[in-house]
Amino acid sequence: MKDRVALVTGAARGIGKAVALELAKNGAYVIVNDYRLGKEAQEVVEQIRALGNRGEVYLADVSSRDDVSKMMENIQRDFGRLDILINNAGISPKHQGVKKPIYEMDPQEWETVINVNLNSAFYCTHFAAPLMIAKRFGRIVNVSSMAARVYSPIPGAHYCSSKAGILGLTRVSAGELAPFNIIVNAIAPGRIKTEMMDAFGEERNRELLKTIPIGRFGTPQDVAKVVCFLVSEENDYIVGAVIDINGGRAML
Ligand SMILES: NC(=O)c1ccc[n+]([C@@H]2O[C@H](COP(=O)([O-])OP(=O)(O)OC[C@H]3O[C@@H](n4cnc5c(N)ncnc54)[C@H](O)[C@@H]3O)[C@@H](O)[C@H]2O)c1
Repeated sequence: MKDRVALVTGAARGIGKAVALELAKNGAYVIVNDYRLGKEAQEVVEQIRALGNRGEVYLADVSSRDDVSKMMENIQRDFGRLDILINNAGISPKHQGVKKPIYEMDPQEWETVINVNLNSAFYCTHFAAPLMIAKRFGRIVNVSSMAARVYSPIPGAHYCSSKAGILGLTRVSAGELAPFNIIVNAIAPGRIKTEMMDAFGEERNRELLKTIPIGRFGTPQDVAKVVCFLVSEENDYIVGAVIDINGGRAML
């Protein structure tokens, strides 16, 4: 991935951080995006640089169209290109570890989740596409979820709907952008050990572990390896796919 410029949204921690580190390890110049966790994002960049690789923090709220538009303008100004985009930023609000059922969900919470999880991916793809089209090269991975594919009692209606929306966005952008040599895919992780998963509570997670055939939770590295393959030049024929990464918890 030498000379490739990659943007990972929500990369200050968790899956995004692991993806950023893995891309950097493979030679990409990685733009580590986050919004509130500026200090943590900077630490990710320091980790990247400590390994002799290249990275930069770009703070932006990806649920804001204006922030994303400005971030892409800055990327164009600073690098003149964007080769790889990982739409990873996401939230899954819980209340004492559990979701609110649809009849109790605050509509404001619904709107926030749709903005952060789904609109962000549209904004980033929309504003990144011209940069990729100009170079006739691009790789995009949208981070969906197992909760987009099967019913889950864990995340709320907003989360499941946003992640299902990501699959629709993936298919359309994959179809529309493939003629420009821009390959778009989605991943659907199951239970991956991050702070998002921890918010569900230790006891509930222990029960859940029993439903994972491989006998362990996923790690951010499990996900990062797959993402890295999908955006590498090794992949030139997996297009518009949804790759399940769940230890066998859902076999579709
Ligand atoms: N952990 C899991 O079990 C799991 C399973 C399936 C899918 N996912 C998805 O993977 C992605 C990463 O999840 P994670 O587990 O690493 O979560 P996490 O909460 O550890 O990390 C999410 C990151 O996104 C950032 N972020 C949130 N809103 C943002 C915004 N508006 N702009 C920029 N950055 C923002 C946060 O600051 C944080 O650094 C999410 O899209 C999540 O839905 C996670």
